[in-house]
Amino acid sequence: MASPARPPDPAAARAGALLTVDLDAVQANYRRLARELGGVACAGAVKADAYGLGMARVAPALVAAGARCFFVALPDEGIALRRIFAQTVADAEIYVLNGPMRGAEADYLAHGLIPVLNSLDDLDHWRAVAAAQDRPLAAVLHVDTGMNRLGLPRDELDVLAGDHGRLEGLELRYVLSHLACAEDAANPMNARQLADFRAAVGRLPPAPASLANSSGIFLGADYHFDLARPGAALSGVNPTPGQANPLRQVVRLHWKILQVREIDAPQAVGYGATFRATGPTRLATVAVGYADGYLRSLSNRGMGHIGGVQVPVVGRVSMDLVTFDVSSVPADLARPGATIDLLDADLGVDEVGARAGSVGYEILTALGRRYHRSYLGG
Ligand SMILES: Cc1ncc(COP(=O)(O)O)c(C=O)c1O
Repeated sequence: MASPARPPDPAAARAGALLTVDLDAVQANYRRLARELGGVACAGAVKADAYGLGMARVAPALVAAGARCFFVALPDEGIALRRIFAQTVADAEIYVLNGPMRGAEADYLAHGLIPVLNSLDDLDHWRAVAAAQDRPLAAVLHVDTGMNRLGLPRDELDVLAGDHGRLEGLELRYVLSHLACAEDAANPMNARQLADFRAAVGRLPPAPASLANSSGIFLGADYHFDLARPGAALSGVNPTPGQANPLRQVVRLHWKILQVREIDAPQAVGYGATFRATGPTRLATVAVGYADGYLRSLSNRGMGHIGGVQVPVVGRVSMDLVTFDVSSVPADLARPGATIDLLDADLGVDEVGARAGSVGYEILTALGRRYHRSYLGG
């Protein structure tokens, strides 16, 4: 028997969905943020595999757009990033937001990872590592101005302000803090954190300062200091909710239709029979589910596009399957083998996040490992 014809890309043929990451758009977003910052340096936060987009592809694209300074959450991410840069970018600075993880000091030193010191305990620890090395070690100091997550709380800042000697042996690259409400420009907490940050910086030895994340960049020049640390905006998340997104969508996601069927009232769809047809309804079932990061909270709330027409998710999102009501779409568009767009130029990660009762950040970082990924440009 003759074997079936091989498609041009068998891996794409086998996958339930096609994910495209537009690296040109990532670079355009970086340049847009850099423009907003005037001459102030712009880092890239590439933790969580560059917000789910693939650090191995996104970080070099950012370098090509001009970035030299990167933030990750964990030392393993920093090691991976250093390896990505090994042959190409000798001068990339890699900062580890979660601090110096105890027992991993040798890894920080071997891979040139710079910890963000989040407490006096972190600071004393890293100073001891510097003393043992008999050389100054680079570090960033994080002062808390209201997140109450990481960073020196007020009482620890008081201690340090009265004893600058505790920074001896450390080369302070930045003093940083993190904004809690930057995406809400009218929130008075922004100005309070700005004032507290200025005061904190004034009590420490002179060092460059960094406050703004993606949304913080759009709060104005007062928030820019010497370095901004955007992450989400690079991926197309709107840093100014409620206003037009100044950035380009980066991710396209197309789900394959496995099967189409007609039902009529009072038939139900999916686990729990949470959707019931009230009349003749055409259904398309696609080959992805919550195991691919399409959140279960999108059950009966998610939306897709076929040929520019909106099609709603009906019934519960299950592990590997989601069903859409495609009654409003011509049958030749909604057929097995055709695709439903879950993310495209008109349906961004912010809208999907809002429908899920979440945010674009979670939609991006949840993007599944089973998708067939391809990258454009960069
Ligand atoms: C300390 C710090 N700086 C910068 C960022 C990047 O923030 P965003 O993705 O909102 O730009 C984060 C993200 O959580 C962070 O924790």
